[in-house]
Amino acid sequence: MITFVWAEDENGVIGKDGTLPWHLPADMAFFKQVTLTGNVVMGRKTYDSIPNPPLKNRENIVLTTNQSFDAPGTIVYHSKEEILNYAKASDKPLHIIGGVSLFEMFKDEVDELYRSVIHESFEGDTFIPEIDYSQFELIEETQGVVDDKNKYPHTFQVFRRKK
Ligand SMILES: NC(=O)c1ccc[n+]([C@@H]2O[C@H](COP(=O)([O-])OP(=O)(O)OC[C@H]3O[C@@H](n4cnc5c(N)ncnc54)[C@H](OP(=O)(O)O)[C@@H]3O)[C@@H](O)[C@H]2O)c1
Repeated sequence: MITFVWAEDENGVIGKDGTLPWHLPADMAFFKQVTLTGNVVMGRKTYDSIPNPPLKNRENIVLTTNQSFDAPGTIVYHSKEEILNYAKASDKPLHIIGGVSLFEMFKDEVDELYRSVIHESFEGDTFIPEIDYSQFELIEETQGVVDDKNKYPHTFQVFRRKK
């Protein structure tokens, strides 16, 4: 099974200057909870945005064109086909965690979407690509809790591809 896991603001912004535009620990916790159920795959720029890579207790797969790219504790792939073969051979979900190129690449294969919506408007340079939500049904929706550490209203959503 292939999933997408991401957070977007109300305009579809997902990144700025190689990092996240917001600080929202509750979403980091949600991300961790979801992705610990399987393994993760990401583009090289998303890998570079992780503070202390790799993400622990999950296989980390990085997609790059750089044939000499080396990141300890990760699997490095150079094509969509390699990722698909990995997903097919694995009995765990493969969570695609961005960025844009990976979300574009797996639009037709993705089975579930884990979307966090942050109800705020941020400046950004990276946007979630268009997703045809008519192909998916919303199966879960939870309002996040706003508190001292989580200042922005946010909603966690799970969509499943319609049969
Ligand atoms: N809000 C969220 O949930 C979320 C999630 C993920 C990322 N982000 C943000 O998004 C930004 C980074 O994402 P991004 O979209 O700019 O980049 P990205 O997709 O993470 O990485 C792009 C890189 O992936 C590699 N790549 C892409 N397509 C490939 C292909 N067909 N074959 C081989 N390699 C390929 C290339 O690496 P090489 O250049 O090494 O060849 C390319 O430069 C950051 O700001 C990050 O914080 C946000």
